[in-house]
Amino acid sequence: MSTHVATMLTRPAGASTGPQVRPLASALGAEIIGLNLATHLTHDSVQLVLDSLHRHGVVVVRDQKLTPDQQTAFMEKLGPIKKSSYSRANSFCVPGYPDMMVISNIVENGRNIGLMDAGAMWHADGTHLAQPDMYTALYALEVPHRDGKPLGDTLFTSTAEAYDALPDALRQRIAGRKAVHSFTHHIEKKRRLGDLRRPPLTEAQKAEVPDVEHPIVTTHPVTGRKNLFVTEGHTARIVGLPEAESEALLEELWAHIRKPEFIYRHSWRVGDLLIWDNRATQHLAIFDYGDLRRRMHRLETVGPVPT
Ligand SMILES: [Fe+2]
Repeated sequence: MSTHVATMLTRPAGASTGPQVRPLASALGAEIIGLNLATHLTHDSVQLVLDSLHRHGVVVVRDQKLTPDQQTAFMEKLGPIKKSSYSRANSFCVPGYPDMMVISNIVENGRNIGLMDAGAMWHADGTHLAQPDMYTALYALEVPHRDGKPLGDTLFTSTAEAYDALPDALRQRIAGRKAVHSFTHHIEKKRRLGDLRRPPLTEAQKAEVPDVEHPIVTTHPVTGRKNLFVTEGHTARIVGLPEAESEALLEELWAHIRKPEFIYRHSWRVGDLLIWDNRATQHLAIFDYGDLRRRMHRLETVGPVPT
């Protein structure tokens, strides 16, 4: 971390005590310390999280102790909670909370208690939907360790910084173009790569999530910043281009998006509530923990149609 970043401790305007926001990397990422969302779910607390999120793309609120009700109460302040039929159909939800997905490799009574292959390719959440997710909040209950080091990191990249740094020629090639996002494509690509660790989609599940088109460059609904909205995980092709040209252009964009200068790598601690902005970032899970227990609870909010 640079000295510049380390000295940028900030508090909310006018406050001499209270929560602190500290950037974690140059392109994106910040941590908030001294904020208890279970006991102080106030307008100011929520605004601090939202402001930090819009400035830094991904924010970790440290040292939380949240029940599913408390995580839900927080998330409802950020927007309408996404209804997860997938979680329900596969019994990956927290019992009694049909929209809260368990992300876990733990097997109990012969079955996985949660989704165990989430995030194997770079993606933003829900881009295969007409109204992709706005914010995602993932709460860490169990974090695997080996030799004292946390495992199962999550990488984030700033798609806004990536857009700003795009060479002019590449920017012109994608101007005004749209791309197809597809959950079926995502699951089949994951299976081809050998990364699928959940049942294949049923015909009913495929029918539930028809392919959608979104602009390749979208404008953030709050900040107004432009960002690249094509992902390795869910973008199937660019509309109006021959297949080979579409594939080559997508590969070029994905290679640009995952350049090290746009990335923050999050090492998890139990009690982290990590919130990210799907309209300004993408993420990738690192599967380096084998059977060591990892367990998290996820909620998402619905965002507007991307434009
Ligand atoms: Fe995700």
